[in-house]
Amino acid sequence: MSLPHDIATAALRCIDPESAHHAALLGLRAGLGPRARADKFPRLRTRLAGLDLPNPIGMAAGFDKNAEAPDALLSAGFGFVECGTVTPLPQEGNPRPRIFRLSADRAVINRLGFNNAGLDAFAERLAARAGKPGIVGANVGANKESADRASDYVRGMGRVWRHAAYVTANISSPNTPGLRGLQERGALEDLLGRVREARAPLEAAHGRRPLFLKVAPDLDDTAIGDICELALAYELDALIVSNTTLQRPAHLTSLDRGEAGGLSGQPLFQISTQVLRVFAQALNGRLPLIGAGGVESGSTALAKIKAGASAVQLYSSLVYHGPGLVARLLDDLDGLLAADGFDNVAEAVGVNGN
Ligand code: FNR
Repeated sequence: MSLPHDIATAALRCIDPESAHHAALLGLRAGLGPRARADKFPRLRTRLAGLDLPNPIGMAAGFDKNAEAPDALLSAGFGFVECGTVTPLPQEGNPRPRIFRLSADRAVINRLGFNNAGLDAFAERLAARAGKPGIVGANVGANKESADRASDYVRGMGRVWRHAAYVTANISSPNTPGLRGLQERGALEDLLGRVREARAPLEAAHGRRPLFLKVAPDLDDTAIGDICELALAYELDALIVSNTTLQRPAHLTSLDRGEAGGLSGQPLFQISTQVLRVFAQALNGRLPLIGAGGVESGSTALAKIKAGASAVQLYSSLVYHGPGLVARLLDDLDGLLAADGFDNVAEAVGVNGN
């Protein structure tokens, strides 16, 4: 079934990562991607912050920054797709090369720096798919040169609210200088206060939407405690744990391991799953979590779920396996849940939380 897609994926791995990414998006938009039913396995249906997901495997932000192919990604089997990060103004990002494959480590380093076509183009694309099925979220961020970054998040929310199934505020990219500073208590309190103020009239006009915050894996326990406290106080609906890491585990072997940027993929799995577990312990069920970082199989997805994630997202494993991976992963996850005696995903959430 997926042989032509596997060949295409292998071919794309031979060209530079950013060109391969553009080619993959073009192929998906042209309808050449693999097809898998997202709702094939009743056991995988689940609920996340009020959203009914056909399965708990999501496309992480950054793959479809401009909302060009959400429906093709849903058709590949994803239970939900997060488009963005989008910034209010279009932005070039950093000079190329800025994506590096660490093949021997099954990892990626990127320092893209929020390259995207801006909020207007993004919102128009989402508006054009109004009425289509499938959960498509919008991940919003701040322009590099913005004098008031909190206002960029408010602008982003305001523009995408009508068209997105949920909205994520991404304050954890390592590639926009100072952005991660928004995770610190004072800055986060200011941001979340303004976000909450902006949210009320949007909900009154267009209806309720879950609002998520995406955090870094490079946080100590105090910072995690502060984020949890504020997320609850300001009524966020879930946290995404995590974005890429600035850490470079000693076991990396690829030549490009010293490149600047955020590391993702297999070496991020343990780091991000441990941070997820600390968040789960601090929240104790009061707020759902979405796990991201190194998900590449049914067992890595299930490990995140057992550590406390209600759903997971992936990106880097697609670079190595192509979108045909999603169908295999759903199959594996269903089998693993069944083998463990779970009737549904929710039963497995947090069973290994300690
Ligand atoms: C990302 N990621 C990301 N996250 C985000 O919130 N906004 C973004 O624009 C991007 N851009 C981006 C580009 C590239 C090339 C990569 C590899 C990653 C982070 C991504 O959504 C995810 O959180 C991490 O990559 C961890 O998951 P994986 O890749 O280990 O499955």
